[in-house]
Amino acid sequence: MNNLSHNNSVPRGKVIAIDGPAGSGKSTTAKIVAERLGFTYLDTGAMYRALTYYALENKINPADEKKLAEIAEQLPLEFRRNDGGDFIYINGQDISSEIRTPEVTKNVSEVSAHLLVRQAMVAKQKEFAKDGSIVAEGRDTTTVVFPDADLKIYMDASVKERARRRLLDLSNMGIESNLSEQEQDINRRDEYDSGRQHSPLTKAEDAVVIDTTNLTIEEQVDRIVELFQASR
Ligand code: DC
Repeated sequence: MNNLSHNNSVPRGKVIAIDGPAGSGKSTTAKIVAERLGFTYLDTGAMYRALTYYALENKINPADEKKLAEIAEQLPLEFRRNDGGDFIYINGQDISSEIRTPEVTKNVSEVSAHLLVRQAMVAKQKEFAKDGSIVAEGRDTTTVVFPDADLKIYMDASVKERARRRLLDLSNMGIESNLSEQEQDINRRDEYDSGRQHSPLTKAEDAVVIDTTNLTIEEQVDRIVELFQASR
């Protein structure tokens, strides 16, 4: 048995789990699916990003697995939703923009590759599902965190399209970049996320694959909501 996937007996509501590589459209889609169904949206990538942000701010080495895992266990992470969107807080401070900077993006793969860090985060993620139904999104939500999810989706898209989307996101945040820099970054993260030893990004055998290269957000959302309704 995978040493990260023990204790799946925690009682929970309905779970839709969505995995896929960076820029595949998971976050936007998962948020809207959650809204439509009245579920809570769980952005697991934001949790690894929050830890990375905290580590960088406090001069903790991204290679220091033990220290990072200790912090991961104690970090008071909180998600809040309002009319303006979904926000993440640590210690009451809104860090939703801070976790999306290129500096955090550059370091998050290393931080999230540590086994002890993942154990701490997976435990927190399972807790979120105890209070109600959720749409969870990340790299291992279909394989490790919620292997018994009610619906599992694997979203993908071409590297070029994913880089184009990231560029647009960054530009909306006022951060300048270019397409080839984003393509390189996506390729680097794909390699890291798929090649790492613990919980690499893989498609669960029973996940439904959705290639979003030529789909609109609306089409992706409709597809997932239909699949969920058909599965009940
Ligand atoms: O989805 P994202 O780009 O915000 O994720 C940030 C990083 O966190 C990504 O490089 C891989 C890691 N991650 C992970 O290892 N496991 C998850 N369940 C979610 C994200």
